[in-house]
Amino acid sequence: MPPIWHQKAYSINAMRDMARATLPNSIFDFADGGADDETTLRQNEASFNQYTLMPRPLNGAPTRDLSVELFGKRLNLPVIIGPTGLSGLFWPDGERETAKAAHAAGTAFCLSHGSTCTMEELATTDAAPRWMQVFIYKDRSFTQEFCDRAEAAGFDALVLTIDNQIPSKRERDLRNGFTIPPSFGLSGYISMAMKYKWLWRMRSTLGTMTFGNYVRPDQASDLSALAAQMTELLDPGMTWADVEWLRKIWKKPLLIKGILHPDDATKAIELGVDGIIVSNHGGRQLEGAISSINALPEVINEVDGQVPVLMDGGIRRGSDVVKALALGATACLVGRPQLWGVATAGQAGVERILDIYKREIDMAMGLCGASDISEITTDLIRHNTD
Ligand SMILES: Cc1cc2nc3c(=O)[nH]c(=O)nc-3n(C[C@H](O)[C@H](O)[C@H](O)COP(=O)(O)O)c2cc1C
Repeated sequence: MPPIWHQKAYSINAMRDMARATLPNSIFDFADGGADDETTLRQNEASFNQYTLMPRPLNGAPTRDLSVELFGKRLNLPVIIGPTGLSGLFWPDGERETAKAAHAAGTAFCLSHGSTCTMEELATTDAAPRWMQVFIYKDRSFTQEFCDRAEAAGFDALVLTIDNQIPSKRERDLRNGFTIPPSFGLSGYISMAMKYKWLWRMRSTLGTMTFGNYVRPDQASDLSALAAQMTELLDPGMTWADVEWLRKIWKKPLLIKGILHPDDATKAIELGVDGIIVSNHGGRQLEGAISSINALPEVINEVDGQVPVLMDGGIRRGSDVVKALALGATACLVGRPQLWGVATAGQAGVERILDIYKREIDMAMGLCGASDISEITTDLIRHNTD
Protein backbone atom coordinates (compact mmCIF):
# COMPACT_ATOMS: atom_id res chain seq x y z
CA MET A 1 0.00 0.00 0.00
CA PRO A 2 1.64 3.30 -1.08
CA PRO A 3 2.02 6.01 1.59
CA ILE A 4 -0.73 8.66 1.71
CA TRP A 5 1.60 11.46 0.57
CA HIS A 6 1.97 9.71 -2.81
CA GLN A 7 -1.51 10.99 -3.72
CA LYS A 8 -0.23 14.56 -3.64
CA ALA A 9 3.08 13.57 -5.28
CA TYR A 10 1.63 12.89 -8.72
CA SER A 11 4.07 14.97 -10.79
CA ILE A 12 7.49 16.59 -10.51
CA ASN A 13 5.92 20.02 -10.12
CA ALA A 14 3.54 18.70 -7.47
CA MET A 15 6.61 17.55 -5.56
CA ARG A 16 8.09 21.01 -5.98
CA ASP A 17 4.99 22.36 -4.21
CA MET A 18 5.44 19.79 -1.46
CA ALA A 19 9.08 20.79 -1.01
CA ARG A 20 8.08 24.45 -0.86
CA ALA A 21 5.59 23.65 1.89
CA THR A 22 8.27 21.77 3.85
CA LEU A 23 11.36 23.95 3.55
CA PRO A 24 12.16 27.37 5.01
CA ASN A 25 11.67 29.89 2.19
CA SER A 26 15.32 30.80 1.85
CA ILE A 27 16.34 27.15 1.48
CA PHE A 28 13.61 26.41 -1.05
CA ASP A 29 14.72 29.48 -3.03
CA PHE A 30 18.40 28.50 -2.80
CA ALA A 31 17.57 25.39 -4.85
CA ASP A 32 14.77 26.78 -6.96
CA GLY A 33 16.41 30.03 -8.03
CA GLY A 34 18.84 30.97 -10.77
CA ALA A 35 21.21 33.72 -11.83
CA ASP A 36 20.22 37.40 -12.28
CA ASP A 37 16.73 37.70 -13.84
CA GLU A 38 16.44 33.91 -14.15
CA THR A 39 15.80 34.14 -17.89
CA THR A 40 17.93 31.10 -18.70
CA LEU A 41 16.34 29.20 -15.84
CA ARG A 42 12.87 29.86 -17.27
CA GLN A 43 14.00 29.18 -20.84
CA ASN A 44 15.35 25.76 -19.86
CA GLU A 45 11.79 24.66 -19.19
CA ALA A 46 9.99 26.83 -21.74
CA SER A 47 12.18 25.79 -24.68
CA PHE A 48 10.87 22.23 -24.46
CA ASN A 49 7.58 23.67 -25.78
CA GLN A 50 9.33 24.58 -29.03
CA TYR A 51 9.61 20.87 -29.77
CA THR A 52 6.63 18.68 -30.46
CA LEU A 53 6.38 14.93 -30.61
CA MET A 54 5.13 13.24 -33.78
CA PRO A 55 3.68 9.95 -32.51
CA ARG A 56 3.55 6.75 -34.58
CA PRO A 57 1.04 4.76 -32.50
CA LEU A 58 0.60 2.00 -35.09
CA ASN A 59 4.25 1.02 -34.76
CA GLY A 60 2.96 -1.08 -31.88
CA ALA A 61 4.59 -0.81 -28.47
CA PRO A 62 2.55 -2.91 -26.05
CA THR A 63 5.44 -3.06 -23.59
CA ARG A 64 8.37 -0.70 -23.28
CA ASP A 65 12.00 -1.18 -22.30
CA LEU A 66 13.36 2.07 -20.84
CA SER A 67 16.87 0.82 -20.18
CA VAL A 68 19.98 2.40 -21.68
CA GLU A 69 23.62 1.39 -21.72
CA LEU A 70 26.18 3.90 -20.60
CA PHE A 71 29.91 3.22 -20.21
CA GLY A 72 29.29 -0.51 -20.16
CA LYS A 73 26.59 -0.37 -17.46
CA ARG A 74 22.88 -0.82 -18.01
CA LEU A 75 20.58 1.77 -16.39
CA ASN A 76 16.89 0.97 -15.88
CA LEU A 77 15.86 4.39 -17.11
CA PRO A 78 17.50 7.27 -18.99
CA VAL A 79 17.34 9.63 -16.00
CA ILE A 80 20.44 10.16 -13.84
CA ILE A 81 20.81 12.05 -10.58
CA GLY A 82 22.96 15.12 -11.34
CA PRO A 83 25.37 16.71 -8.85
CA THR A 84 23.82 19.16 -6.38
CA GLY A 85 25.80 20.71 -3.55
CA LEU A 86 24.45 20.77 -0.01
CA SER A 87 21.76 18.10 -0.45
CA GLY A 88 22.17 17.49 3.28
CA LEU A 89 20.48 20.84 3.88
CA PHE A 90 17.21 19.43 2.58
CA TRP A 91 17.16 16.19 4.58
CA PRO A 92 19.68 14.72 7.01
CA ASP A 93 22.32 12.80 5.09
CA GLY A 94 20.60 13.96 1.89
CA GLU A 95 23.31 12.76 -0.48
CA ARG A 96 23.33 9.21 0.80
CA GLU A 97 19.53 9.09 0.88
CA THR A 98 19.52 10.20 -2.76
CA ALA A 99 22.24 7.77 -3.82
CA LYS A 100 20.31 4.90 -2.24
CA ALA A 101 17.19 5.95 -4.16
CA ALA A 102 19.13 6.04 -7.43
CA HIS A 103 20.52 2.59 -6.70
CA ALA A 104 17.06 1.23 -5.88
CA ALA A 105 15.75 2.63 -9.17
CA GLY A 106 18.71 1.18 -11.07
CA THR A 107 20.24 4.41 -12.26
CA ALA A 108 23.46 6.40 -11.82
CA PHE A 109 24.15 8.97 -9.12
CA CYS A 110 26.62 11.84 -9.40
CA LEU A 111 28.04 13.27 -6.17
CA SER A 112 28.69 17.01 -6.04
CA HIS A 113 32.08 18.35 -4.98
CA GLY A 114 30.06 20.31 -2.40
CA SER A 115 28.27 17.40 -0.77
CA THR A 116 27.77 17.42 2.97
CA CYS A 117 29.15 13.87 3.24
CA THR A 118 32.56 12.85 1.96
CA MET A 119 32.97 10.77 -1.18
CA GLU A 120 34.23 7.93 1.03
CA GLU A 121 31.05 8.10 3.13
CA LEU A 122 28.94 8.07 -0.02
CA ALA A 123 30.75 4.95 -1.18
CA THR A 124 29.52 3.09 1.92
CA THR A 125 26.03 3.05 0.34
CA ASP A 126 27.45 0.84 -2.44
CA ALA A 127 25.31 2.89 -4.84
CA ALA A 128 26.41 2.22 -8.40
CA PRO A 129 27.13 3.44 -10.92
CA ARG A 130 28.41 6.40 -8.95
CA TRP A 131 30.11 9.37 -10.53
CA MET A 132 32.15 12.13 -8.88
CA GLN A 133 31.95 15.77 -9.93
CA VAL A 134 35.07 17.91 -9.69
CA PHE A 135 36.38 21.36 -10.56
CA ILE A 136 39.72 22.70 -11.72
CA TYR A 137 41.32 24.44 -8.74
CA LYS A 138 44.11 27.02 -8.76
CA ASP A 139 46.12 24.48 -6.87
CA ARG A 140 45.92 21.55 -9.31
CA SER A 141 47.07 19.16 -6.60
CA PHE A 142 43.69 19.74 -4.95
CA THR A 143 41.91 18.49 -8.10
CA GLN A 144 44.39 15.63 -8.27
CA GLU A 145 43.56 14.72 -4.68
CA PHE A 146 39.82 14.65 -5.48
CA CYS A 147 40.54 12.31 -8.40
CA ASP A 148 42.73 10.01 -6.32
CA ARG A 149 40.10 9.81 -3.59
CA ALA A 150 37.31 9.17 -6.11
CA GLU A 151 39.36 6.38 -7.64
CA ALA A 152 40.10 4.84 -4.24
CA ALA A 153 36.42 5.11 -3.24
CA GLY A 154 35.38 3.17 -6.34
CA PHE A 155 33.66 5.92 -8.32
CA ASP A 156 32.92 4.78 -11.86
CA ALA A 157 33.27 8.07 -13.71
CA LEU A 158 34.49 11.63 -13.22
CA VAL A 159 32.44 14.69 -14.20
CA LEU A 160 34.36 17.92 -14.75
CA THR A 161 32.04 20.91 -14.39
CA ILE A 162 33.30 23.87 -16.41
CA ASP A 163 30.59 26.51 -15.95
CA ASN A 164 31.02 27.34 -12.29
CA GLN A 165 34.51 28.84 -12.04
CA ILE A 166 33.14 32.28 -11.20
CA PRO A 167 30.41 32.74 -8.57
CA SER A 168 27.20 34.03 -10.14
CA LYS A 169 24.65 36.44 -8.72
CA ARG A 170 21.64 34.59 -7.37
CA GLU A 171 19.30 37.41 -6.53
CA ARG A 172 16.77 35.33 -4.62
CA ASP A 173 19.56 34.46 -2.19
CA LEU A 174 20.52 38.13 -1.88
CA ARG A 175 16.90 39.12 -1.32
CA ASN A 176 16.40 36.42 1.31
CA GLY A 177 19.72 37.11 3.00
CA PHE A 178 20.50 33.45 2.43
CA THR A 179 23.85 32.56 3.86
CA ILE A 180 25.88 29.39 4.23
CA PRO A 181 25.31 28.16 6.89
CA PRO A 182 21.64 29.31 6.92
CA SER A 183 21.22 32.46 8.98
CA PHE A 184 19.21 32.37 12.16
CA GLY A 185 18.36 36.07 12.37
CA LEU A 186 14.88 37.05 13.55
CA SER A 187 13.15 36.54 10.17
CA GLY A 188 15.19 33.36 9.66
CA TYR A 189 13.99 32.05 13.01
CA ILE A 190 10.38 32.86 12.16
CA SER A 191 10.63 31.10 8.79
CA MET A 192 12.43 28.13 10.34
CA ALA A 193 9.93 27.91 13.19
CA MET A 194 7.08 27.86 10.70
CA LYS A 195 8.74 24.88 9.05
CA TYR A 196 9.09 23.13 12.38
CA LYS A 197 9.03 19.61 10.91
CA TRP A 198 12.10 20.39 8.81
CA LEU A 199 13.76 22.06 11.82
CA TRP A 200 13.05 19.07 14.04
CA ARG A 201 14.33 16.63 11.41
CA MET A 202 17.52 18.64 10.98
CA ARG A 203 18.10 19.28 14.68
CA SER A 204 21.16 17.08 15.02
CA THR A 205 22.80 17.81 11.67
CA LEU A 206 22.33 21.56 11.11
CA GLY A 207 24.96 22.64 13.61
CA THR A 208 27.65 20.29 12.36
CA MET A 209 26.93 20.33 8.61
CA THR A 210 29.94 20.98 6.41
CA PHE A 211 31.36 20.45 2.92
CA GLY A 212 32.66 16.97 3.66
CA ASN A 213 35.19 16.67 0.85
CA TYR A 214 37.00 19.87 1.81
CA VAL A 215 37.57 19.15 5.48
CA ARG A 216 41.28 18.96 6.34
CA PRO A 217 42.47 17.90 9.80
CA ASP A 218 44.56 21.02 10.36
CA GLN A 219 42.04 23.60 9.11
CA ALA A 220 38.73 25.18 10.10
CA SER A 221 35.95 22.84 8.98
CA ASP A 222 32.82 24.92 9.49
CA LEU A 223 30.54 25.54 6.54
CA SER A 224 31.18 29.26 6.18
CA ALA A 225 34.98 28.94 6.33
CA LEU A 226 34.95 26.19 3.73
CA ALA A 227 32.46 28.03 1.48
CA ALA A 228 34.82 31.01 1.33
CA GLN A 229 37.79 28.73 0.73
CA MET A 230 36.04 26.87 -2.10
CA THR A 231 35.29 30.05 -4.04
CA GLU A 232 38.87 31.14 -3.59
CA LEU A 233 40.16 27.79 -4.82
CA LEU A 234 38.31 27.82 -8.16
CA ASP A 235 40.42 28.82 -11.14
CA PRO A 236 38.61 31.04 -13.67
CA GLY A 237 41.74 30.78 -15.84
CA MET A 238 41.36 27.07 -16.57
CA THR A 239 41.88 26.00 -20.18
CA TRP A 240 41.80 22.96 -22.44
CA ALA A 241 45.27 22.08 -21.16
CA ASP A 242 43.59 21.24 -17.86
CA VAL A 243 41.20 18.88 -19.60
CA GLU A 244 44.20 17.24 -21.25
CA TRP A 245 45.88 16.90 -17.85
CA LEU A 246 42.75 15.50 -16.21
CA ARG A 247 42.40 12.99 -19.01
CA LYS A 248 45.91 11.77 -18.23
CA ILE A 249 45.37 11.34 -14.50
CA TRP A 250 41.83 9.86 -14.60
CA LYS A 251 41.69 6.55 -16.43
CA LYS A 252 37.98 5.71 -16.13
CA PRO A 253 35.19 7.50 -18.09
CA LEU A 254 35.55 11.29 -18.03
CA LEU A 255 32.63 13.59 -18.80
CA ILE A 256 32.55 17.36 -19.22
CA LYS A 257 29.49 19.10 -17.82
CA GLY A 258 28.59 22.58 -19.03
CA ILE A 259 29.20 22.27 -22.77
CA LEU A 260 26.88 24.43 -24.88
CA HIS A 261 28.99 25.29 -27.94
CA PRO A 262 29.30 22.51 -30.55
CA ASP A 263 32.98 23.30 -31.19
CA ASP A 264 33.73 22.70 -27.52
CA ALA A 265 32.21 19.25 -27.84
CA THR A 266 34.56 18.49 -30.73
CA LYS A 267 37.56 19.78 -28.81
CA ALA A 268 36.63 17.71 -25.76
CA ILE A 269 36.40 14.55 -27.86
CA GLU A 270 39.76 15.31 -29.48
CA LEU A 271 41.25 15.36 -25.99
CA GLY A 272 39.79 11.96 -25.16
CA VAL A 273 36.72 12.89 -23.13
CA ASP A 274 34.22 10.01 -22.97
CA GLY A 275 30.97 11.92 -22.57
CA ILE A 276 29.48 15.38 -22.99
CA ILE A 277 26.87 16.90 -20.70
CA VAL A 278 25.02 19.74 -22.39
CA SER A 279 24.15 22.00 -19.48
CA ASN A 280 23.93 25.62 -18.35
CA HIS A 281 23.98 24.62 -14.68
CA GLY A 282 20.21 24.85 -14.49
CA GLY A 283 20.30 28.58 -15.28
CA ARG A 284 22.27 29.23 -12.10
CA GLN A 285 25.44 30.58 -13.70
CA LEU A 286 25.54 32.53 -16.99
CA GLU A 287 22.34 34.53 -17.39
CA GLY A 288 21.42 34.74 -21.06
CA ALA A 289 23.03 31.40 -21.92
CA ILE A 290 21.18 29.28 -24.45
CA SER A 291 18.68 26.82 -22.99
CA SER A 292 20.01 23.28 -22.79
CA ILE A 293 17.46 21.68 -25.11
CA ASN A 294 18.13 24.35 -27.74
CA ALA A 295 21.88 23.77 -27.47
CA LEU A 296 21.49 20.01 -27.81
CA PRO A 297 20.84 19.55 -31.58
CA GLU A 298 24.03 21.34 -32.73
CA VAL A 299 26.13 19.43 -30.21
CA ILE A 300 24.58 16.13 -31.29
CA ASN A 301 25.26 17.00 -34.89
CA GLU A 302 28.89 17.85 -34.18
CA VAL A 303 29.54 14.82 -31.96
CA ASP A 304 28.00 12.53 -34.57
CA GLY A 305 27.77 9.51 -32.29
CA GLN A 306 31.45 9.47 -31.24
CA VAL A 307 30.60 9.64 -27.52
CA PRO A 308 27.36 9.72 -25.51
CA VAL A 309 25.79 13.15 -25.16
CA LEU A 310 23.74 13.75 -22.01
CA MET A 311 21.83 16.87 -21.09
CA ASP A 312 20.22 18.57 -18.11
CA GLY A 313 18.15 21.66 -17.40
CA GLY A 314 14.39 22.03 -17.08
CA ILE A 315 13.41 18.39 -17.37
CA ARG A 316 10.13 18.17 -15.50
CA ARG A 317 8.22 15.59 -17.53
CA GLY A 318 8.85 12.17 -18.98
CA SER A 319 7.95 13.67 -22.35
CA ASP A 320 10.85 16.15 -21.90
CA VAL A 321 13.19 13.17 -21.58
CA VAL A 322 11.67 11.59 -24.70
CA LYS A 323 12.20 14.87 -26.59
CA ALA A 324 15.87 15.03 -25.53
CA LEU A 325 16.39 11.41 -26.56
CA ALA A 326 14.61 11.99 -29.88
CA LEU A 327 17.09 14.80 -30.55
CA GLY A 328 19.92 12.34 -29.92
CA ALA A 329 20.74 12.47 -26.20
CA THR A 330 21.63 9.18 -24.51
CA ALA A 331 20.19 10.16 -21.12
CA CYS A 332 19.22 13.17 -19.03
CA LEU A 333 20.30 14.37 -15.61
CA VAL A 334 18.05 16.10 -13.10
CA GLY A 335 19.06 18.67 -10.48
CA ARG A 336 16.28 20.44 -8.61
CA PRO A 337 13.71 17.62 -8.89
CA GLN A 338 15.84 15.27 -6.76
CA LEU A 339 16.14 18.01 -4.12
CA TRP A 340 12.35 18.42 -4.07
CA GLY A 341 12.11 14.66 -3.64
CA VAL A 342 14.66 14.40 -0.86
CA ALA A 343 13.17 17.43 0.94
CA THR A 344 9.75 15.75 0.90
CA ALA A 345 10.61 12.28 2.15
CA GLY A 346 14.34 11.52 2.01
CA GLN A 347 15.18 8.37 0.04
CA ALA A 348 11.49 7.57 -0.51
CA GLY A 349 10.95 11.05 -1.97
CA VAL A 350 13.73 10.63 -4.54
CA GLU A 351 12.44 7.16 -5.36
CA ARG A 352 9.07 8.77 -5.98
CA ILE A 353 10.64 11.37 -8.30
CA LEU A 354 12.38 8.67 -10.32
CA ASP A 355 9.21 6.62 -10.44
CA ILE A 356 7.25 9.59 -11.81
CA TYR A 357 9.82 10.06 -14.58
CA LYS A 358 9.77 6.33 -15.30
CA ARG A 359 5.99 6.14 -15.59
CA GLU A 360 5.78 9.27 -17.71
CA ILE A 361 8.57 8.14 -20.06
CA ASP A 362 6.91 4.74 -20.38
CA MET A 363 3.56 6.36 -21.18
CA ALA A 364 5.07 8.80 -23.71
CA MET A 365 7.00 5.98 -25.40
CA GLY A 366 3.87 3.83 -25.61
CA LEU A 367 1.85 6.69 -27.09
CA CYS A 368 4.66 7.41 -29.58
CA GLY A 369 4.88 3.76 -30.62
CA ALA A 370 8.44 3.25 -29.32
CA SER A 371 9.04 -0.07 -27.59
CA ASP A 372 12.63 0.63 -26.61
CA ILE A 373 14.95 3.59 -26.37
CA SER A 374 16.54 2.91 -29.77
CA GLU A 375 13.13 3.55 -31.33
CA ILE A 376 13.06 7.13 -30.00
CA THR A 377 14.52 8.76 -33.10
CA THR A 378 14.46 12.18 -34.79
CA ASP A 379 11.50 10.89 -36.79
CA LEU A 380 9.41 11.44 -33.64
CA ILE A 381 10.19 15.13 -33.12
CA ARG A 382 9.71 18.46 -34.87
CA HIS A 383 11.03 21.92 -34.03
CA ASN A 384 8.31 24.55 -34.22
CA THR A 385 9.46 27.82 -35.67
CA ASP A 386 6.18 29.69 -35.14
C1 LIG B 1 21.01 23.52 -5.33
C2 LIG B 1 21.81 23.13 -6.53
C3 LIG B 1 23.15 22.83 -6.36
C4 LIG B 1 23.92 22.47 -7.47
N1 LIG B 1 25.23 22.12 -7.27
C5 LIG B 1 25.97 21.70 -8.33
C6 LIG B 1 27.31 21.27 -8.13
O1 LIG B 1 27.81 21.22 -7.01
N2 LIG B 1 28.01 20.88 -9.22
C7 LIG B 1 27.47 20.89 -10.48
O2 LIG B 1 28.15 20.53 -11.44
N3 LIG B 1 26.21 21.29 -10.69
C8 LIG B 1 25.45 21.69 -9.64
N4 LIG B 1 24.15 22.07 -9.84
C9 LIG B 1 23.59 22.05 -11.22
C10 LIG B 1 22.93 20.70 -11.50
O3 LIG B 1 23.87 19.66 -11.53
C11 LIG B 1 22.20 20.70 -12.85
O4 LIG B 1 23.10 21.11 -13.87
C12 LIG B 1 20.98 21.60 -12.90
O5 LIG B 1 20.34 21.66 -11.65
C13 LIG B 1 20.03 21.03 -13.95
O6 LIG B 1 18.88 21.76 -14.04
P1 LIG B 1 17.50 21.36 -13.33
O7 LIG B 1 17.64 21.77 -11.91
O8 LIG B 1 16.50 22.17 -14.08
O9 LIG B 1 17.32 19.87 -13.48
C14 LIG B 1 23.35 22.43 -8.76
C15 LIG B 1 22.00 22.73 -8.91
C16 LIG B 1 21.22 23.06 -7.82
C17 LIG B 1 19.77 23.36 -8.03
